[in-house]
Amino acid sequence: MDFGYHCHCTLMKVKRTPINNMYKSKHIYIFTYDNTEDELCKLESRYLFDQEEKNRMLFSDVKVEPSTSAFIKSRLDVISKSEDYSALIDEIKKENISSEGFKVEYLIFDGDTTGYKSRLGKLRDIGYSIEGNPDYYNPITTYAVCCCEGVWYFGILIKNNFDWHKHNNKPCSYSNSIGVNTAKSLVNIAAQGDKGASLIDACCGVGTIMLEACFAGFSIEGCEINWKICRNARENLAHFDYSTEVFRSDIKDISKRYDAAIIDLPYNLVSVATESEVFHIIESTAEITDRMVIVSTSDITDFISKVGFSISDHCSVSKRGKRKFARRIWVCEKKIK
Ligand SMILES: C[S@@+](CC[C@H](N)C(=O)[O-])C[C@H]1O[C@@H](n2cnc3c(N)ncnc32)[C@H](O)[C@@H]1O
Repeated sequence: MDFGYHCHCTLMKVKRTPINNMYKSKHIYIFTYDNTEDELCKLESRYLFDQEEKNRMLFSDVKVEPSTSAFIKSRLDVISKSEDYSALIDEIKKENISSEGFKVEYLIFDGDTTGYKSRLGKLRDIGYSIEGNPDYYNPITTYAVCCCEGVWYFGILIKNNFDWHKHNNKPCSYSNSIGVNTAKSLVNIAAQGDKGASLIDACCGVGTIMLEACFAGFSIEGCEINWKICRNARENLAHFDYSTEVFRSDIKDISKRYDAAIIDLPYNLVSVATESEVFHIIESTAEITDRMVIVSTSDITDFISKVGFSISDHCSVSKRGKRKFARRIWVCEKKIK
């Protein structure tokens, strides 16, 4: 029987993290991001899990679909764990798992010194503890084993499917568009993982943020003052069969209330905005929500305070490529009077 354990190319390097109570957690998350996105990933993680990922991993009972984030590479749903490897195998056998077309992967966490041959042996042990035929190339279920801080974990591995990369081929692009990774994080930070939250993208441009919200199953509407750009946003959404409202309007004329608003402020490259226009957008959005996640290239702390909001968190994201400039993300809540 071939369990596919000969293929070692799927091993993942993950660093160790000291997290209390991790032994009891239902899920282990593995993150991927580059250094420019470190702060953003940590900000997202604070709002999704109420804790920061550390060394690209996190233990939590909160269940998040990896594909809703650009930074979550995979989630291990823990089935069995033990400080003793033989006891882990006994635990797995006790589960009487029957699975057609399965695969087992070994996740290498920092500090795990298990050698290659030994890892293959462990994949074999686990393969023989599961009833059913393996399928390495098109597995229906992927299981994984790992050792972290002296504890062995076994479970089902749910991977980010990266299907959202299809949005890169949207029909209408815009030089002022926000990066897709940032767009996904803004949605997660605004909704705090709550799919029931109503969101508005107050300056939606061609809908980059809206596409990610729709993909992840969040409820979002958009507003765009420029009729051409608004038409492009509608076209982009329709292209991927997402149906939601894009208002061709100045945000000041929207009266519907939302649980949270995302504002990717116009900045002085293509969509030129004066200080007073920026204040006008923030002030108008503050009228229709108690929670704003704002992206800006300038310091807007005074504006946030003037409209009766306080900053609960923030981070900066530096842009790669030709035009390198930093954006700041501000998470703001209405001050309680
Ligand atoms: C930085 S761009 C947004 C880009 C968008 N996040 C994307 O990825 O396509 C800011 C947008 O705000 C729009 N805008 C400016 N003032 C506005 C207002 N008062 N109400 C609504 N939209 C406005 C601009 O036309 C511009 O498209």
